[in-house]
Amino acid sequence: MNDVDKHSRQDPDHQPLRSDAWYAGDDRNAYLHRAWMRRGVPSNAFEGRPQIAIANTASDLTPCNAHLNEVSRAVQQGVYEAGGIPLDLPVVSLGETLVRPTAMLWRNMAAMAMEEMFRANPIDGLVLLGGCDKTIPSLLMAAASVDLPAVVVPGGPMLNGTFRGQTLGCGTDVWRLGEEVRAGTLSAEQFVRSESSMIRSRGHCNTMGTASSMAVVAEALGMTIPGMAGTPAPDSRLLEGSHEVGRLAVELVREGRTIKQVITRESFHNAIVALAAVGGSTNAVVHLMAIAGRLGIDLDLGDFDRIGAGVPLLVNLQPAGEFLMEDLYRAGGLLAVLHQVADLLDPGAITVTGETLVEAASREHPVWDTTVITPRETPLQADAGIAVLRGNLAPHGAIVKPAAASKELLTHRGPALVFDSVEDLKARIDDPDLPVTPDSVLVLRGCGPRGYPGMPEVANLPLPKKMLQLGVRDMVRVCDGRMSGTAYGTVVLHVAPEAAAGGTLALVQDGDTIVLDVPNRLLQLDVSDEELAARTPPASLVQHFAAPTRGWEKLYVEHVRQADTGADLDFLVGSTGPEVARESH
Ligand code: FES
Ligand code: MG
Repeated sequence: MNDVDKHSRQDPDHQPLRSDAWYAGDDRNAYLHRAWMRRGVPSNAFEGRPQIAIANTASDLTPCNAHLNEVSRAVQQGVYEAGGIPLDLPVVSLGETLVRPTAMLWRNMAAMAMEEMFRANPIDGLVLLGGCDKTIPSLLMAAASVDLPAVVVPGGPMLNGTFRGQTLGCGTDVWRLGEEVRAGTLSAEQFVRSESSMIRSRGHCNTMGTASSMAVVAEALGMTIPGMAGTPAPDSRLLEGSHEVGRLAVELVREGRTIKQVITRESFHNAIVALAAVGGSTNAVVHLMAIAGRLGIDLDLGDFDRIGAGVPLLVNLQPAGEFLMEDLYRAGGLLAVLHQVADLLDPGAITVTGETLVEAASREHPVWDTTVITPRETPLQADAGIAVLRGNLAPHGAIVKPAAASKELLTHRGPALVFDSVEDLKARIDDPDLPVTPDSVLVLRGCGPRGYPGMPEVANLPLPKKMLQLGVRDMVRVCDGRMSGTAYGTVVLHVAPEAAAGGTLALVQDGDTIVLDVPNRLLQLDVSDEELAARTPPASLVQHFAAPTRGWEKLYVEHVRQADTGADLDFLVGSTGPEVARESH
């Protein structure tokens, strides 16, 4: 029986589907595949009805995503309504707050596991439910490598916390409350009570941290229904939109519009502009590079610098600003921001709906509160892009977010003060005898993807107590690790190659002069090549490099690429599409 006969056996008119390879025909295999999947579905479930998997990162241990089961049900209704068959598919979920040593260690594992399951199953289209930091990046990486029709539902931020009449931003305000306890203005009991006031509802972090940034990026890449990113998790409109996404997923399959047709190089241009305009997390740089790698799109670290240059910062959100995601939504949401920078967006890049992002952004999107979304004419910063630095200390690049840095430190020369591990840092940073001056450049190394597997968010190392007592509030810091999307300061991060991958960072000694020149995009160690060639990394550093002997960590350390290309595993870069060559029985 040839393929055409297989289809005509059930419905002569139905458009061929990927899932037909499992369900169509009347042979024993098709019988087995259908019989086990009947579960009460309509009798025509396997006759030309797109099978839509809802990749669901709901988990009680990812509290930011725990509500996605409800979101999945809304998507399922939309899928049914449009004639598809919805399939809830729980996938690897990564919760930022709990897993150790860092959720980033498993972003690639989650992406790999999802990719394999998307391909191995009779799936025609995907709805990707994410929220907490690594979940949307891993879902997009996986979907890109399978290249099926796909659409993202960002799970949305939690509501503003409020406590004793004040707004609480999650994470960011813990430090302030802790200081109040020390100052005696807040009792220890009230401090504990504030926990449920801070994390008041379902949803992910409500600052412009990594989760919010990745929702913005997903929308700017064209992967959401325009206007959905930033819809608060408990908001009815999230469920309404999710229902619509279910319908859209079926339509995408019928039109054959896959993720590679939606996300192009131009989409990355738009993501970079959006990221700058909202003042998004530096972590988005690594995730975007990894997604581009899966799609075979030649994105360079320098693109962030070039495209982000001159993009105004329009969103006044914590950690750097005042407000929270619920306020951004109330003020008009992401489309009101994109509306104002529509001229900076690439007009050709489409969204999952088929219209371009610029078309969606160009409709009427008023700003309802100009203290949250500032007008283009009076931006919070004129230039919100990310600067990419190079030099002998970062031949493959390092990044700094000038908008989050101290202006006077953007051009700086100072003596290095080196810490060989997070433990070394913790042991010495508050030592009264620490040889530090306000000019010192604090170096923390061994924290890159390979050295401290996963590249933890430790780059914004705390200032030495001695300096805080002098009134110093910022110092230049250089690290091969990442920084939390909720942090800021003059922090040079993602130094590549990292110390554990033969980077010059491993050769820095206390007292060496480090030159930071952001206007000229330079990060230089003022030590001659001859002298560097004669140096070797100290044992105090090398002993901390990860040396796993088995399991995921071993695979990760042996194959992880550097931050400048997205810290994906070398063998996961690219795409093998949706084809499966052989039968299972
Ligand atoms: Fe999940 Fe912040 S902990 S988004
Ligand atoms: Mg985070």
